[in-house]
Amino acid sequence: MQTPDIIIAVDGGASTGKSTFARSLAAELGFLYLDSGAIYRCVTHFALQRKLIDSSGAVSPELENVLGELDFSFSPEGHACIDGKSVERSIRSLKVSSRVSVISALPYVRRFVDEILHRLGSCGRLVMDGRDIGTTVFPNAELKIFVTASEQVRAKRRYDEMLSKGETPTMEEVLANLRERDYIDSHRATSPLRKADDAFVLDNSDLTVREEIIWTLGLIRGKFGIL
Ligand code: DC
Repeated sequence: MQTPDIIIAVDGGASTGKSTFARSLAAELGFLYLDSGAIYRCVTHFALQRKLIDSSGAVSPELENVLGELDFSFSPEGHACIDGKSVERSIRSLKVSSRVSVISALPYVRRFVDEILHRLGSCGRLVMDGRDIGTTVFPNAELKIFVTASEQVRAKRRYDEMLSKGETPTMEEVLANLRERDYIDSHRATSPLRKADDAFVLDNSDLTVREEIIWTLGLIRGKFGIL
């Protein structure tokens, strides 16, 4: 399929499978894939390393002053890197997951990340996933998809993902983290998680990734008049 040079914004809550879907869609279309959550996770990892988050979860205002020292990049394979070294494993840990929503609610953190996202996404032909891509980062994206799935399916996905990475959380911990993040992400003052008015909803509770892709290719054909 000859796809036009568009930006596809994929938003949704934690563990809805949006990254797996967005990555596969980008590969299918020959587009660049960008995981905006990975950058928020890197900021959180950086803040923890600098001891700017205390045991109660409070964030030191010093973070704003030192954020410019965070040298973030994606490797050619798409790994999130700090100072040129992959931090993929650390940023997916429960420790980072349980702090990232608080960090990503800070307006100066959002400004910092938005700047990186606009720079990386400036060439188009891109699938970007996150919480506010269709509403705030690229409100003019040509195609917006809002991904949902049932809570049980989401918790099971996150649980399996963490087990495969050697972490041993309980299902209750995973579920609690998911609910807490959903709540913070959708109630924060700056760019809360919400469906853009012109986004298509994709409930993937009972769909395979291939079925999600086929559904999306149908959308692209219909919307852009490609046969
Ligand atoms: O997609 P993820 O679970 O890896 O995202 C991690 C966190 O980053 C998530 O809890 C909320 C935040 N985030 C955000 O606020 N805005 C985005 N565009 C992407 C992620």
